[in-house]
Amino acid sequence: MKKQLLIFIALLIGLPTQAISIKYGPYLQNLDTNSVTITWITDSTSIGWVELAEDGSDSFYSTVRQQYHDTQDGIKNTSTIHSVTLNDLSPNTVYRYRVYSQAVLSHEGNRVMYGDYVATNVYSREPLRFKTNNHDKETMRFAMINDIHGDNQRMERLINHSSLMEPDMYIFNGDMASSFENEEQIFDDFAQTAITMFASEIPFYYVRGNHETRGTYASHFHQYFTTGHDKLYYTFRQGPVFFVMLDSGEDKPDSDIEYYGLVDYDNYRNEQAQWLSHIVTSEEYINAPIKVIVSHIPPTGDWHGNIEVKNKFMEVLKLSAPDLMLCGHEHELIYHEAKESNPFPILINSHDNVIVGKVSATSLIIYIIDVNGTIIDTIILNK
Ligand SMILES: [Fe+2]
Repeated sequence: MKKQLLIFIALLIGLPTQAISIKYGPYLQNLDTNSVTITWITDSTSIGWVELAEDGSDSFYSTVRQQYHDTQDGIKNTSTIHSVTLNDLSPNTVYRYRVYSQAVLSHEGNRVMYGDYVATNVYSREPLRFKTNNHDKETMRFAMINDIHGDNQRMERLINHSSLMEPDMYIFNGDMASSFENEEQIFDDFAQTAITMFASEIPFYYVRGNHETRGTYASHFHQYFTTGHDKLYYTFRQGPVFFVMLDSGEDKPDSDIEYYGLVDYDNYRNEQAQWLSHIVTSEEYINAPIKVIVSHIPPTGDWHGNIEVKNKFMEVLKLSAPDLMLCGHEHELIYHEAKESNPFPILINSHDNVIVGKVSATSLIIYIIDVNGTIIDTIILNK
C-alpha cells in the first residue's frame, strides 16, 4: 500500500518511474593475474557496482557478496557508463559476479533521489564467471581478429570457428569499426557481437587501429575500452606469453587533409617508442618465455604510418628479440619470415581470417582459419 502511494506521488509530481535497464554489457577488460575491469552501460543515469563471489556450488544468494563500486577519487560515478576495476584477485581463480546499477533521478546540492535497480540475472541462470590469468599455465591460447569494419556477420563466423579451439582470450587488432561516431555505433558495429558471444566471461584485449581514431566520438575510446592506465598502449601476460600492445596511430602524415589538423601521431609514436624501450628492458619482458608484439599497422609498406612503425618501434624491437609480431591493416594475409630487417617473424592477418595461437614456453603454433572454418595455413615456430 505504501509503495503504491509512493508511485502515485511520483506520477503526480512527474518523477520518472520507468525501469532502468542494462543497455550493453557487462564485458571484461584488462584481465590479468590479480585484476579485471568490468564495464557496462545503462540506459539512464545511475550509480553502479559489482558483486563478487569465488566459484562454488553454493547459491549466489547464500550470503552478502563483496561489493566493488564504480568510483572516482572516492565519489561514486553518476553516469550511464560504468567501469569497475577489481584489484585484489588471486591468480588462476574462477570468480562469479553480477553487476548492479541504481538510477539517479536527481541530484541537487547534497540531496540525491534514487530510482529503480537493475542487475544481471543470478536467479534463473548461472552467475557470470571469469578466470584470472595464470603465469604458470603451460600452454595458453589466443584468437585474433582485425579489420572487421562493422561487419558483424563476418565477425560472428570468425569467432564461432575460433571458439572451437577454446581460446583464453581474444585480441581485437584494430579497425573493428570504420570510425567512432557515437556509443550506439560502437556496439552495433562489433562490441555487442563480442558481448553476446563471449565478452562477459572471456576478455578481449583491444589494440586501436587507425579507423578507431576517426569520427567525432574517437576521443571516447578510453571510456569503453580500458587498458589499466591512461594510455592506449599496454602489456599483459597469460601463461608463458608476454604481450606488448602498441597503438600505431594513423596511416597518413599528420598534416594530411583527411585529419583536418586534429592529430599529432608523430609525437605520440615518439612518446610510445620511449615507453617501449623501457618495457623491453623490464624484468617482466626479459623473464617471459615468449614475447608477442601486437600492432595494427605493420612495419612494412611505404605509407607514413608503416614507415613510422618501422623507424620508431622496429628499431627498439630489433634489439629485444620478440618471438612474433602480429599486425593487420592491409586486408591481406602476409607472412614475413625472420630476416635481417626483421629478426623475428611478422604475421599480417587479413580481414577475413581469424588467427588462433597455441603457445607454450618452447613453441608457437599459429592456425590461420578463414570465414568458412577451413585452416588455410599453420605456422610452427620452435624456440
Ligand atoms: Fe587500418
